[in-house]
Amino acid sequence: MELHILDHKVHVISVEKYAISVVTRALVKLALLYKQTNCKFFSFTETCDDYSIIVDEEGFKEIPKHEDVKVQLDSWRVLNVAVGAYATNKVSGLTKIAKSVILPLADYHVSVFCMSTYQTDFILVKEDDMKAAIECLSFKYNIFQEKDGEMIPVPVNHPVDEDKLQDPGTPRPIVHPFTVPLNRFSIRSLDPETLPNVATVLLELMFYSDSLSTSPQDGHDRFFSYSVVDGDISLVLDSEALVKFPPHSLFGSTAGECWKMVRIGATPLGFDECGIVAQVSQPLADADISTYYISTFLTDHTLVPEEDAEDVMRILKSRQQLQAI
Ligand code: ARG
Repeated sequence: MELHILDHKVHVISVEKYAISVVTRALVKLALLYKQTNCKFFSFTETCDDYSIIVDEEGFKEIPKHEDVKVQLDSWRVLNVAVGAYATNKVSGLTKIAKSVILPLADYHVSVFCMSTYQTDFILVKEDDMKAAIECLSFKYNIFQEKDGEMIPVPVNHPVDEDKLQDPGTPRPIVHPFTVPLNRFSIRSLDPETLPNVATVLLELMFYSDSLSTSPQDGHDRFFSYSVVDGDISLVLDSEALVKFPPHSLFGSTAGECWKMVRIGATPLGFDECGIVAQVSQPLADADISTYYISTFLTDHTLVPEEDAEDVMRILKSRQQLQAI
């Protein structure tokens, strides 16, 4: 199997809700007029607490420096598993790579940041941890580094220290609290050619979400995510946002499919702790449940198929109790 280290170097940013006007001009360009920039990796997520942005160095130049725009100090590299023939797998999303990428990295004490899109799953690793990540993953993968669009094999000098890897059967307690808002989500994509038809909807969802009825009081959380990576557009949006789009303007593999979201972390999770994604994705992968995973500046989010939601809660709660024992 092949693992690709992509050319992008990305930064993780948080913008306070009240300060969105500081970055609006930059975000309109990165989200809608991205052909006018050299940005190849952009993701925007509104959570209940902030706007979380992941952007490559070219895109980062567009973002104004401001006290309400917090930039995480590390530079992150983007890893991606070349899917190839095993795309026919019955599970989708992060579940496909939970055991081969997420768990080994957690055991190697490499902190990750995950970003699933409609098209694929990206695993972000701090530039400073790349040596450890390569050493760890060379066990399962042939690793290639993207350079000017070409994939160059990465030589591996250190044999993997297998002692560091935990027995895959050992359950990991879930250490952070989680909640499940009532919203029903969809994971969709959009043909870039049709962006002009949906631009006003996107502007409304990105910058004027206060007009939506979603509120924590009634059990719904604000969550909207939009990304453009190498020209591929991906959206994670709830049913209230979805109905704003003209019919057939978005596509999804199975039109009716709905997802529930598990939000992990009651306080900011930070960037150094490892194993958070592993704790959640391991038991769900063991149960063959598809998961999409979106890390944001403050908290993490796992999307699971609505029909599996009860099983997911039972599984995750049992893992949470492990910690209490
Ligand atoms: N670093 C965590 C892990 O390795 C995931 C990211 C949590 N932090 C965050 N700000 N969302 O599992």
